[in-house]
Amino acid sequence: MDPPKASANGTPSTGHCVAGLTSLQKGMKDSLEGARFRWINEQLYKSDSVEAVKLMQDSPENFHEYHKGFRHQVYSWPSNPVTHYVEELSALPKGTIIADLGCGDAALVRELAGKQTVISFDLVSDGMYVVEADICSKIPLPGSEPQGSEKSDGVGQVVDVVVCALSLMSTNWPNCVREAWRILKPGGTLKIAEVASRFEDVEQFTSLVNSHGFKLKSKDDRNSHFTLLEFKKVPRATKSAKEWTGLMSRGHVLKPCEYKRR
Ligand SMILES: C[S@@+](CC[C@H](N)C(=O)[O-])C[C@H]1O[C@@H](n2cnc3c(N)ncnc32)[C@H](O)[C@@H]1O
Repeated sequence: MDPPKASANGTPSTGHCVAGLTSLQKGMKDSLEGARFRWINEQLYKSDSVEAVKLMQDSPENFHEYHKGFRHQVYSWPSNPVTHYVEELSALPKGTIIADLGCGDAALVRELAGKQTVISFDLVSDGMYVVEADICSKIPLPGSEPQGSEKSDGVGQVVDVVVCALSLMSTNWPNCVREAWRILKPGGTLKIAEVASRFEDVEQFTSLVNSHGFKLKSKDDRNSHFTLLEFKKVPRATKSAKEWTGLMSRGHVLKPCEYKRR
């Protein structure tokens, strides 16, 4: 199925050309853009990351439409996870290495420039700050998994903190947690922010993350819109292909996030 088009003649809607529109035309334009945002959002939450990559490669405009709609939603929230993380990460020792997985507009790297080193990944690069990568596949950073039944941290990692701010969208998101473990230094921190309504049972979620080789350090669900979780990487033994398949099949513990019509 094709996404709703933002304008009848197929002109990409950039939001810049609103001058000259009547209020009726402006209302119709907003409503089409809203429908398009919700369609892209649904695709991202209801398909795996191979489909997400294809959706963006087929039309990079989808990425920009999605982010325009996302910003519109998030600006109506009392606060957002990125603002919270900027404050928290600024307080860490200078030079902390942070991987921002599913960085969107790359707000973290912009805000933390000169303080921390942030490496930002998303489905589409902005040609400046963002490395194009599927975070649920192979993240282009060093690190390895244990080879045997002895517990270990793997070797070769350079990252101190991994941030997943509202980015566990693809149905195969547990693979992103697996990758976070692989690229984190021993004892490294995984910070996850998720939309509160996505959790049917937050303990099922934390238990699944822990099964990848993490230990829950804190949970903050005081915010009405999102929940903040912090995990510490702990050593683990290797896992069989069957064990990984079992973990990957539990992605449904996070429900898709559906946004209301504007
Ligand atoms: C809801 S937005 C949040 C963006 C940003 N972290 C923030 O909080 O403002 C989620 C982001 O994750 C990205 N994302 C989702 N699945 C991804 C995947 N498999 N690989 C890379 N990026 C992904 C989306 O493209 C989107 O930019």
